[in-house]
Amino acid sequence: MRFSNRIRFQKRFFDRFSSSYHLINFLSFGLATLTRRRSLTTLKIEEGETICDLMCGDGSNIGMIRKKFNKSRIFGVDISEGMIRRARFRFGEDNVTFLTENALSSSISSSSCDAVSCTFGLKTLSFEERKILFSEVYRILKPSGAFVFTELSRPKFGLIYLLWNFYFGFLLPLLGRFFLLPFVGKKYLSHSIDSFENITKDESSFRSVFSQVDLFSWYGGIVTGACGRK
Ligand SMILES: C[S@@+](CC[C@H](N)C(=O)[O-])C[C@H]1O[C@@H](n2cnc3c(N)ncnc32)[C@H](O)[C@@H]1O
Repeated sequence: MRFSNRIRFQKRFFDRFSSSYHLINFLSFGLATLTRRRSLTTLKIEEGETICDLMCGDGSNIGMIRKKFNKSRIFGVDISEGMIRRARFRFGEDNVTFLTENALSSSISSSSCDAVSCTFGLKTLSFEERKILFSEVYRILKPSGAFVFTELSRPKFGLIYLLWNFYFGFLLPLLGRFFLLPFVGKKYLSHSIDSFENITKDESSFRSVFSQVDLFSWYGGIVTGACGRK
């Protein structure tokens, strides 16, 4: 399988970071977990449906879905073997199929999923790669299947922006160095959020693919995303 340089970098980076990735949940003071839960709610999942979590990391979304819907079939796709290994270790494989694959060209069958989720993955992709990802989600969704993409974003103004700057530009890198977390210690996270900005950059890409798209902004713009239907 051939990957672009950027995707190869992501794979190596997240492999290295996989065993400590869960610490980010603590350093986000619960915001990451809250955001995942809120994102999954937008999908209105029903018991027995087939769900795919793209760029699933160490499986937090999968854990949440499985806890509520134990008869659903779940796919977890991630490019990093380390992350998939952690996800398997945390949640086992009952009703879950883990695929160590590129989310931009997975082996999941066309029109096979009722819902697709992807949290905190968009900022790791370029604008052009994100367009490919949206088409890929369209391909794997059943007719009128639901999707949600949620990402950390840069708030535009005011006090929230100052707090965001303090947290991502100063506090998190400091804590990251202390806990030896490369993801935040070298400001990787704040730089990738900075270049992603927010979901509005992708609005026309979403609208050119999906029939229904709703953009959302949570916590004063610290998290933005898009949900909708095929
Ligand atoms: C910031 S983590 C988010 C993980 C998870 N979704 C969460 O909520 O914590 C981004 C993940 O995307 C994965 N990733 C990056 N590029 C990918 C690609 N092209 N295909 C599949 N996974 C990819 C990385 O390995 C990493 O696990």
